[in-house]
Amino acid sequence: MNILVTGGAGYIGSHTCVELLNAGYDIVVVDNLDNSCLKAVETTKRIAGRDFKFYECDLLDRENLEKVFIENKIDAVIHFAGLKAVGESTQIPLRYYHNNITGTLVLMELMEKYDVNNIVFSSSATVYGMPKTVPITEDFPLSTTNPYGSTKLMLEQILTDAAKANNKLSVTLLRYFNPIGAHKSGEMGEDPKGIPNNLLPYVAQVAVGKLEKVHVFGDDYPTPDGTGVRDYIHVVDLAIGHLKAIEHRADKPGVHIYNLGTGNGYSVLQIIKAFEKACGKEIPYVIDPRRPGDIAECWANAAKAKEELDWTATRGIEEMCEDSWRWQSTHPNGYND
Ligand code: NAD
Ligand code: UD1
Repeated sequence: MNILVTGGAGYIGSHTCVELLNAGYDIVVVDNLDNSCLKAVETTKRIAGRDFKFYECDLLDRENLEKVFIENKIDAVIHFAGLKAVGESTQIPLRYYHNNITGTLVLMELMEKYDVNNIVFSSSATVYGMPKTVPITEDFPLSTTNPYGSTKLMLEQILTDAAKANNKLSVTLLRYFNPIGAHKSGEMGEDPKGIPNNLLPYVAQVAVGKLEKVHVFGDDYPTPDGTGVRDYIHVVDLAIGHLKAIEHRADKPGVHIYNLGTGNGYSVLQIIKAFEKACGKEIPYVIDPRRPGDIAECWANAAKAKEELDWTATRGIEEMCEDSWRWQSTHPNGYND
């Protein structure tokens, strides 16, 4: 089976490519390298010990993207490509809507033209907005609080409408919780540009001495220690979820929706402690006010993915922090090292 991976040079995409290659799939990768680099593609090839075609191409560039479909027989698409920074999306919303939505429309139109009828899409727990209770199941009400989240929710709707109109099309919407961790080799991991927005890469950069201290956003939430609780999931477990989606849903037309999380919640302070253990250093932190828009608790009920995809996350928080640290400590400047 030949799988087109959009955004395959990015954090989750590169880890998924390794797992796809290891499982014997053939892949073609498309990425405009807007938030990634060629080294990630080379590293994927090295770790998996296999070659594949890489197209440096923007999804918005229909002519060049069409070449990918002309030159390769594609059986399925895993669609990671998109802009993902929540804060930035509130500053440049039009760019987010154009890139994420128009890019996906161009991709879907070409899939239709070349009779490709299987897509796995990177959605996010952000589509649950401010959930009233936890754990979250797939049938919870959907809403968003920022343009990034709105692109995810709109794309879920667009893909659902496309599946309704084409009875051959299989759409799998994977709602990720909080991906962290890195490949075991220490050669592949998250490489955020500038100062990280998300907790784990921030903690990792404090541990390696690039940042001074962690700013804990609020300690007055109604949680056991007052700090925000999230469902952190190892990026390799997440990657494997995509293989399972291809394996179990590729031949089943319609829309399939799954939470990909562990079902366990960890607080900010628990994460700092777990990372201290992994890196053997104390991690300084201060308590700051709450970050606007943050929720107290967010974790998944992932029973549906277990039942229908035969998928469960197996890597615990210790392994997530150890693997993040192996990557961060050997690559303090990401792929530039
Ligand atoms: P990433 O930024 O590392 O990867 C996305 C890749 O898409 C990048 O390599 C970027 O260069 C590429 N890209 C962006 N726009 C493109 C375009 N128009 N044409 C071609 N390539 C383009 O992000 P990630 O963390 O690997 O996330 C992958 C997907 O998962 C995204 O859609 C993201 O929204 C979604 N997601 C991520 C998280 C998370 O916390 N990392 C959580 C939920 C959902
Ligand atoms: C992020 C995304 C969200 C996405 C979710 C799952 C942002 C703002 N939101 O949310 O769209 O659905 O991942 O993929 O990126 N924290 C600190 N200090 C920091 C950073 C974070 O205390 O420097 C806290 C936050 O308040 C939160 C927890 O750590 O309680 C996790 O934050 P973060 O890594 O940004 O993820 P989410 O807020 O869950």
